[in-house]
Amino acid sequence: MALVTSKEMFAKALKSDYAVGAFNVNNMEIIQGIVEAAQQENAPLILQVSAGARKYAKPAYLTKLVEAAIIDTGVDICLHLDHGEDFDICKKCVDDGFTSVMIDGSKHPFEENIRITGEVVEYAHAHGVVVEAELGKLAGVEDAVNVAARDATFTVPEEAAEFVARTGVDSLAVAIGTSHGAYKFKGEPYLDFERLKEINRLIPDTPLVLHGASTVLPEFVALCNQYGGDIPGAQGVPEEMIREAVGHGICKVNIDTDLRLAMTAEIRRYMVEHPADFDPRKYLGPARDAIKGMVAHKIKDVLGASNKR
Ligand code: G3H
Ligand code: 13P
Ligand code: ZN
Repeated sequence: MALVTSKEMFAKALKSDYAVGAFNVNNMEIIQGIVEAAQQENAPLILQVSAGARKYAKPAYLTKLVEAAIIDTGVDICLHLDHGEDFDICKKCVDDGFTSVMIDGSKHPFEENIRITGEVVEYAHAHGVVVEAELGKLAGVEDAVNVAARDATFTVPEEAAEFVARTGVDSLAVAIGTSHGAYKFKGEPYLDFERLKEINRLIPDTPLVLHGASTVLPEFVALCNQYGGDIPGAQGVPEEMIREAVGHGICKVNIDTDLRLAMTAEIRRYMVEHPADFDPRKYLGPARDAIKGMVAHKIKDVLGASNKR
């Protein structure tokens, strides 16, 4: 039991028909809920920390909580930096003991993205750490309405092949129509599977990553709203689309929003049903259970990763 890189996890997933779940963590209850679900499902696991999470929890807390989760459950965990925006934060995380970092140079022009990604790869690999990069821009609700917009923002397959060859990156996040948050599509959900297939055909040995992969399950939106929420128009990626993507080279699926919804719904429910209670354990305990239930569902029913450890 240890902190591990995603190398072996991805090598196995690439040869098979499942993906590894990468779940965002911000505090102890979230970490416990996720890791207990992975333990129960005997599944490979990536925990990812955003810059915002590092700032909120302070870096040492999250690293130590993840180490504690490994001791408590015996689950091997890949500890990953999510959306590192420059060399500095990637270096800090490598130095702090992360086993994987993402350098997100997607906002830069192609050559600049290659340059900063290459720099991170050189430092990380010298320290036994793997690197994820991103090419193309995730769509927002306004984007990707027509083919021209798609070509401007989505990952170009030939560029993906060149990018991987020139940077030596270990995995690549692609833009095929998903976006972050709870409002992913204005109309019908659409993912560009033809593009994904072509990327996978050109770089079959590169594990691909799907960001913005929350499903925003209607029952959880309803639950949130029932207890005083107001999130109209929330719409995620349908589960069958995630499963289809997993069949075309997607080895890592990023999920944060669904955890936020599950946790918040449970806390709201508790608060409404027990207005006189003020012991945080009374609502954070059920919130942790809700995270565990959501992650177990993802692993088992969406990613097909149960018993793949
Ligand atoms: O990709 C973004 C993740 O959902 C993390 O979000 O930057 O608010 O922590 P955050
Ligand atoms: P969601 O907002 O769809 O959960 O995506 C999370 C993500 O991509 C983190 O990098
Ligand atoms: Zn992301």
